Amino acid sequence: MKNQLFRKLPLNQQHKAQFNKSMNAFDLIALGVGAVVGTGIFILPGTVAAMHTGPAIVFSFILAAIVCAFSALCYSELASAIPLAGSAYTYSYVLFGELIAWIVGWSLLLEYGLAVAAVATGWSAYFQSLIEGFGLHIPIALSGSFSPANGTFVNLPAILIIVLLAGVLTIGVKESARLNRIIVFIKIGIILLFIIAGAFYVKPENWQPFAPFGFQGILSGAALVIFAYLGFDAVSTAAEEVKNPKRNMPIGIIGTLVICTILYVTVSLVLTGMVPYTELNVGNPVAYAMELANLDWVFGVISVGAVISMMTVIFVMLYGGTRLVYSFARDGMLPKVLSEIHPRRKIPLKNTWIYALFISLFAGFIPIDKLAELVNMGTLIAFAAVSIGVIFVRKMNLQELNEGFKVPLFPIVPILSFILCVFIITQLSSFTFLTCFIWMIIGLIVYFTYGRKHSLLNQKSE
Ligand code: ALA
Repeated sequence: MKNQLFRKLPLNQQHKAQFNKSMNAFDLIALGVGAVVGTGIFILPGTVAAMHTGPAIVFSFILAAIVCAFSALCYSELASAIPLAGSAYTYSYVLFGELIAWIVGWSLLLEYGLAVAAVATGWSAYFQSLIEGFGLHIPIALSGSFSPANGTFVNLPAILIIVLLAGVLTIGVKESARLNRIIVFIKIGIILLFIIAGAFYVKPENWQPFAPFGFQGILSGAALVIFAYLGFDAVSTAAEEVKNPKRNMPIGIIGTLVICTILYVTVSLVLTGMVPYTELNVGNPVAYAMELANLDWVFGVISVGAVISMMTVIFVMLYGGTRLVYSFARDGMLPKVLSEIHPRRKIPLKNTWIYALFISLFAGFIPIDKLAELVNMGTLIAFAAVSIGVIFVRKMNLQELNEGFKVPLFPIVPILSFILCVFIITQLSSFTFLTCFIWMIIGLIVYFTYGRKHSLLNQKSE
């Protein structure tokens, strides 16, 4: 039994894909900003400032960026040493064995699944405010999650956007670097428009008091705004496709985080300067601030930009989730149907639909705002595992490490990264701990009743 729980995935040489090493640091930054900037910037500077930090949310963004930077460097080393699909789940399978891999993977499922549901809900809020500008309204009953007291039963736009983007995924559309760059420019342009137009409406007295919830508020804020940085693991997983990864990976990762931090901090300063932070707990705070300032055309442009930006984030996260579930099923931890590849389209078609329908029902009916914190919990658990993983991977002395990317200042960076992740986890709410605990119990039941018996490693050892 003990042997089963800690058996490790062999790093099978033929699994390794031979990639074209073509990306430079600029490509990496474009990839990173494309995957990272989405809902967070359009929502969190309002809601987190209102409830947890006040204008001091800028410090929360900086702290969260530091945590992400350390973890991202660790991710890069593992992605370069263990170039297999499945991200932190697969790294943990190779390094720590099956049970821990399952726990880490189950946490990642929280990240990808709930992030899609949360971003789709945010998208729905912006979409509805956008079409209201054209005098169109979605019937109240279909405009929000199940809450009969408020007259809402289902968030239809959130369901539809997930189903639509799942449809795009099943056609096998590759995100082309060019399309990604165009969207990145649109996103940055819209954000700069907000910053420049909004700067004229800043009233410095709105920044008083700057940190009404004190240092503790800044820490809990950091734990919440980690969400805004998610997606940079996409940069780390490109480790095998980068020219001169030792130089370009850290530039790509740190560059992405620096650009995002500057955008997040500036947007937060302008937003909390325009509107008293106490009034920012709304579904679409950035657009709302423009509405208050009577900048109707900017309001319209920002709503369109937000709707486009969020769609790319949903797409990338949906993709990540389906591939994670695929990795589980490929290893025998979930039913085989989830790892079947469509013969012509070469994608896991059934998996994509089953997964997307499940997540869309979640987004449509469950009030997601409370659960969104769980995304951060799942992510931070994976970050912590990846940080420690670097220490283990060095011990294994894998051949590839000689050429691949290595974390600088070893072992200080991975150890600091681990400590920071655990510390930020402790800042999450007790409700999040409780729901995460329940999620983990469900995960362990699935593992002990299904995964352990069906694991492919099982069959190999028979
Ligand atoms: N970082 C992504 C966003 O903010 C999840 O939308």
